[in-house]
Amino acid sequence: MSPRRVRVEARAKLNLGLAVGPRRPDGFHELATVFQSVSLADTLTAERRARGFSLEVRHERAADRGALPRGARATVPAGGANLALRAARLAADRAGIRGGAHLRLVKRIPARAGMGGGSADAAAALSAVLALYGVRVPRSGRLALGAELGADVPFALFGGTALGLGRGERLEPLRLARPFRAVVAVPRWTVSTPEAFRRLDRLKYGLTRWPAKLRFAKALGRMALEPRYATRLGNAFEAVLGRRRQDFIDLCARLREAGVEAPRLTGSGSAVFGLLGPRVPARVVLDRFAGGEALFVVRSARRGLSIGTQL
Ligand code: C5P
Repeated sequence: MSPRRVRVEARAKLNLGLAVGPRRPDGFHELATVFQSVSLADTLTAERRARGFSLEVRHERAADRGALPRGARATVPAGGANLALRAARLAADRAGIRGGAHLRLVKRIPARAGMGGGSADAAAALSAVLALYGVRVPRSGRLALGAELGADVPFALFGGTALGLGRGERLEPLRLARPFRAVVAVPRWTVSTPEAFRRLDRLKYGLTRWPAKLRFAKALGRMALEPRYATRLGNAFEAVLGRRRQDFIDLCARLREAGVEAPRLTGSGSAVFGLLGPRVPARVVLDRFAGGEALFVVRSARRGLSIGTQL
C-alpha cells in the first residue's frame, strides 16, 4: 500500500574542496569536488492529491548565532520556479504518475550560500513523490533525473561523502576517516554562480591548475579521507570574489581567531566553513567569533536524505 504522507529530511552539503576545469562544449565546466552532507536540513512533507502539484514554504531560524537578513527569504521562490516543485513534476511525469501532491517545505538551509539547499529540496521532492506513489526507480535512474534539475542534485540524492566529477554529477563514494564538525558563517552578500563561472573563464583559471588538481582529487579515493586533507584541494571560486575578496579574507581571519581550522568557501559561496577540532567546544567558538554573520554548527552526515512514510 502506498503511504498517505511522506516526510523527508533534506541535508545541506559543503564542498570540502572544489576545483574547476575548462569550459566544455555544452557550456558547463569540468569539476572535481569533495562533497560532504551535513546535519543542517530542510524538512519536506508531501501529501497525495488527486492531481496537480502545489508548494508552501515556511522559514525557520536555524542559526546557532546571529540571523540571516530577511531579504534572504525572498530568494526562495514559492511558485513554479521552485526547484522542489519542478522536481516533483519531473518525477511524476517520467514515472507515469497520474496523481499530484501538496508539498510543505520548512527551510532552514540558507539560500544562495553554496550549501546546496535548493538541490537538497529538489532531491527530497523527487524521492517523496516516488515514495508517495510506491514507484521504484533504480538509483541510477534517480541520479539521472536529478542531473536534469541541476549539477548538485545527484549528490543531494547520493549523500554522505563523495567525489564529484564531470559537471559534478559523476559521483564516487569517499570514505571519511572520522566524523567531524564545522562552523559555517553566512555573510550578508551573495554570489551569482553563473557569473562566478564566467569570471573563472576570463581568468583562464582552469587551464593552468586543473590537471594537478584533478590528479589530487582522484587520489583521494584511495585513502580514508581526513577532512582537513580534502580542504587542500582549495576552492577555485575564492579567486573570483571581486570586490568581496577582502570581506572573505577578513571573515576567514575572524573564523580562525575564533578557533576553527582551514576556512574555505563552499560551492561558489558566499558561505565560509571552518573545521572544528575534536576537543574544541562549539560554544566557545560561537562566543569568541567577532562579527555579525549568521553562524551554524554542523556535523558531517552519512546520508543526504532520510525518508519516513505514514500510512
Ligand atoms: O546546475 P546548476 O543550476 O547548479 O548550475 C548553475 C550554473 O552554473 C549553470 O547554468 C552554469 O552556468 C554554471 N555551471 C557550470 N559548470 C558546472 C556547473 C554549473 O558552468 N559544472
